Amino acid sequence: MKTHQIALIPGDGIGRDMTAAAWQVLQRAAGAFGFALDGIEFPWSCAFYKETGAMMPADGIETLRGFDAILLGAVGWPAEVPDSVSLHGLLLPIRKNFVQYANIRPHRQLPGVHGPLKASTFDILCIRENTEGEYSGAGGRIHQGTPDEVAVETSIFTRKGVERILRFAFEQARTRRGKLASVTKSNAQKHSMVFWDDITRELARNYPDVEVTSYHIDAMAARMVMAPETLDVVVASNLFGDILTDLGAAIQGGLGFAASANINPERNAPSMFEPVHGSAPDIAHLGIANPIATVWSGAMMLEHLGERDAAKAVMAAIEATTASGVGTVPGKDRTDAITAALLAAI
Ligand code: NAD
Ligand code: IPM
Ligand code: MN
Repeated sequence: MKTHQIALIPGDGIGRDMTAAAWQVLQRAAGAFGFALDGIEFPWSCAFYKETGAMMPADGIETLRGFDAILLGAVGWPAEVPDSVSLHGLLLPIRKNFVQYANIRPHRQLPGVHGPLKASTFDILCIRENTEGEYSGAGGRIHQGTPDEVAVETSIFTRKGVERILRFAFEQARTRRGKLASVTKSNAQKHSMVFWDDITRELARNYPDVEVTSYHIDAMAARMVMAPETLDVVVASNLFGDILTDLGAAIQGGLGFAASANINPERNAPSMFEPVHGSAPDIAHLGIANPIATVWSGAMMLEHLGERDAAKAVMAAIEATTASGVGTVPGKDRTDAITAALLAAI
């Protein structure tokens, strides 16, 4: 039997319940479709940091490298460990070290889920640059604590990094409705974003079948609310893509529905699958978080592993569950009840 080796990193807060729920659903799908998922769990988290002084062991990245994929819940417990420490100690190094440069975040409506937008039907694929840009971590603070204090955060955009994410987005547009929206802020940011727009124009010559339009991030935020049906593939930098995909989750009906895949397209290191949302400290102990975002991310993992039919079955189970009214309204159904409905639908 074909066996896929999966690294499980539940992380913090609701991440633990969300990965547990998704793992049950994925195991059910594996059983139904005749393959095995062999999971090894790593306790790397803010609790691990408090015990050991690090978010993961020094050889954590090398430990993960041998896996076929990583399923992650959420990282961050800001009441006890600063986010700047926890995220730069675990989540962000995985994305960067494994060159998971394409962060794919689908935003479309599920049956029975009524988001805030009354009259539109949309199907948007956000492609977020995931390894550089505003998340480079370069910068510093000087004259700390004085009136002359200065903080600098340097965005780093490389030709290699911008070209590869744009090329990936053009290719995705080609397999969908042939429309690409490239998002920058080149009216205010005159170096990196003009560079991005220039490369978009250069590459567009190789994709005459793709209709490409450049938007400013502010206008795109409004468009995602006012006219999301006009969008197909949306490509953006690391920070802009981060913000737009919480907005995408919101128009879907909430963060409990938004899935995410951190893909290494060259497949020379594992890809990582996780929901768009975080550890949700405000509801972490209540048992009411929606596992659908993580289950959907798990379906993207199955697709990546080549288990197409199982991935489709998981998506169909999500749709059957929401169509029956379960998991559609934030806080209405408990995590366990939504998970049970998903399991029954496989
Ligand atoms: P969050 O996404 O955790 O929560 C935002 C809001 O959405 C909260 O009101 C929360 O209750 C709700 N929510 C989130 N997931 C939900 C679900 N599955 N079902 C129902 N409601 C849900 O964002 P935040 O509060 O800004 O961040 C909390 C912590 O998580 C921070 O430490 C942050 O840095 C971290 N974070 C981690 C990731 C990640 O690991 N990929 C992503 C985002 C935030
Ligand atoms: C996400 C999260 C992370 C990001 C944070 C927690 C660093 O918001 O995956 O969307 O900004 O990438
Ligand atoms: Mn985010």
